[in-house]
Amino acid sequence: MSFHNPQANIILTGFMGCGKTTVGRLLAAELGRIFIDTDDHIARQQGLSIAQIFAMRGEAVFRQLERELAAELTVPASLVIATGGKMLLDPVNAGLLTQGGVILSLAASPAEILRRIKADKNHMRPLLDGDLSINRIEKLLKERRAGYAAFRQLETDHRDPAEIVRDILQAVYSVTSKKE
Ligand code: S3P
Repeated sequence: MSFHNPQANIILTGFMGCGKTTVGRLLAAELGRIFIDTDDHIARQQGLSIAQIFAMRGEAVFRQLERELAAELTVPASLVIATGGKMLLDPVNAGLLTQGGVILSLAASPAEILRRIKADKNHMRPLLDGDLSINRIEKLLKERRAGYAAFRQLETDHRDPAEIVRDILQAVYSVTSKKE
């Protein structure tokens, strides 16, 4: 999908704490688009927080819910979509969302990720439960690095959300002009 289609969705992936939700919400407001956060969508649909879904039903059920949602997000509909940190590391999910838009990955250093996650008291991360440490973040990042590298990546360290929004708009336009 190219951004030439004015309805192409802009989809954000990347590790926990890289700013997908904060930046996605701001980007949507700037463009006057509808914003969807896949974690929020699943939590509302299930009537449970993500942490409760992990604890009561298990990670496999959560991943299945992500796959079901991915299958609903294939149409270009002028959306800004912030995905859960692992959703698009499943190539089937990434393929489905690519049908409707352009995927970008937000990145940050392990130290910055740790700082942001510690500051975000409202958002529980079950995968870091009991071990919110730089070592755990580095380990997970190492496992996932190649997956995120499949997408155009934008660094977010030392940048505020408004600057990242500008970077995204630039990236989205250059992705499309390269395809011409
Ligand atoms: C996860 C990231 C979380 C959420 C779930 C699992 C992951 O989303 O989907 O806790 O495996 O990276 P955020 O990236 O929005 O924190």
